Amino acid sequence: VSLFGVFVALLLLHLLHSTFSSQKRPEPPGPRPLPVFGNLFQVDLKRLDQSLFNLSKTYGPVFQVYFGPKKVVVLAGYRTVKEALLNQADEFGNREITPILNDLTQGHGILFSNGDSWKEMRRFALSTLRDFGMGRKMSEEIIIEECGYLIKEMEQYGGEAFNNTQAINYAASNVISALMFGKRFEYKDPVFQNMVERDNETIHLMGTASIMMYDLFPWLGPFFKNWRNLMKNNEDSLADLKKLIADLKETLDPEICRCFVDAFLIRKKHLKDDEVKNSHYHDENLLYTVDDLFAAGTDTTATTLKWGLLYMAKFPHIQRCVQEELSRVVGSRQVRIEDRKNLPYTDAVIHEIQRFANIAPMALPHTTSNDLTFQGYVVKEGTTVFPLLTSVLYDESEWESPHSFNPPHFLNDEGKFIRRDAFMPFSAGRRACLGESLAKMELFLFFASLLQHFHFTPPPGVSEDEVDLKPVVGLTLTPKPQRLCAVHRL
Ligand code: HEM
Repeated sequence: VSLFGVFVALLLLHLLHSTFSSQKRPEPPGPRPLPVFGNLFQVDLKRLDQSLFNLSKTYGPVFQVYFGPKKVVVLAGYRTVKEALLNQADEFGNREITPILNDLTQGHGILFSNGDSWKEMRRFALSTLRDFGMGRKMSEEIIIEECGYLIKEMEQYGGEAFNNTQAINYAASNVISALMFGKRFEYKDPVFQNMVERDNETIHLMGTASIMMYDLFPWLGPFFKNWRNLMKNNEDSLADLKKLIADLKETLDPEICRCFVDAFLIRKKHLKDDEVKNSHYHDENLLYTVDDLFAAGTDTTATTLKWGLLYMAKFPHIQRCVQEELSRVVGSRQVRIEDRKNLPYTDAVIHEIQRFANIAPMALPHTTSNDLTFQGYVVKEGTTVFPLLTSVLYDESEWESPHSFNPPHFLNDEGKFIRRDAFMPFSAGRRACLGESLAKMELFLFFASLLQHFHFTPPPGVSEDEVDLKPVVGLTLTPKPQRLCAVHRL
């Protein structure tokens, strides 16, 4: 056999192999993209999650779409999202850091960071929040105290219709504040009001079309008013947080840990000299981690609670069942976390509120950490991935009636609470929400306490049918600002 023969045989083998393997492992399917614009005209940017959910019915549970020049792989349906985020957790577990996120956080903190810094900050935040009682006593006391303030605030209206948005935002923000800084703020404090308003504005601006355009074409940045507003908001928020951190630094006693910021500073103090240089415990990480916990922990919980009250006004028969259970099991004493196991209907309603409201419909974008094969498709390292939580929480093969508000989704035939695997509002895997236990505790205590004290109705002259459940779309899905009556029950 000549050398030339061997060469030809090897070449043929190589060609056969590459043809065969590229046939076996294609890229995910998807609508044909246009030059420059990609599939921008085939999706509805105003309700992107719905529009991608619809595309999954044509292209299957793993498909790709182009936003301008950027390719995004979409994961749809409970089985697929679970398989990617849990079974291939490391490969799907990086966060996408778009130009706007880089402008805002420069890779510090937890939400929008990757690598060792992210890992260390996430681990530290989880363990510190756990020490401060996420799932234990201290957070419970903080939340119960805040319930009292929220109830007082709502009582002021004497059953007249009012917009509950601000009061609920302040209550949720105060819980994080007490954990981060060891103190709560008066709802009337203008500095606090500004902090909360700014965070809301930031979340709204992040979801606007011009910011999405900026992420695709960053050189346009300074021309966008929304970009300039976002930068200004960020600067002001960080300045407020820096002041609060500086006050705690000045009064720090390493023997007494009052809050999350103290825990960070004490941890930093305990580093050996040779560890300091390469440590992730530096001022930027403290600042941005605190900022992240505020941003991620306030709007999400507050928005879910607002949806909850709106659903109660819309579905009064469900509200009556919750109140009947609360009266029977708890009576007029303070509701506590340990009551949850005896309140299966209330628990089921809260879970259904989270499922139906679907406030984080596409989680936060991930990226792949290396080239990988998923469900037979090749996906390159660094590809943006959307875990479509809408398609999990509304998966027709998982839920009996995904498109109606139906608490029995979480009840068995005997009326006992049941967990459902496809209940995934906090996402799953490596980047799953780290505030899940705290959020669940807040939702339970706030919701149950409010329904113990008040009956929620639409304003006079507005029927239940007219209560508008269409969301405002931003980074999260929030209810339109509307007025409800909180009529005292006790
Ligand atoms: C991430 C949902 C409350 C802190 C996330 C993600 C979702 C989510 C969907 C993205 C997961 C992913 O990318 O796959 C929610 C919901 C909440 C809530 C529905 C309330 C009802 C909270 C609270 C805190 C918090 C109270 C803080 C104490 C975070 C952080 C991340 C995160 C730091 C980023 C995790 C990482 O990238 O490693 N959350 N969240 N969340 N959440 Fe929450």
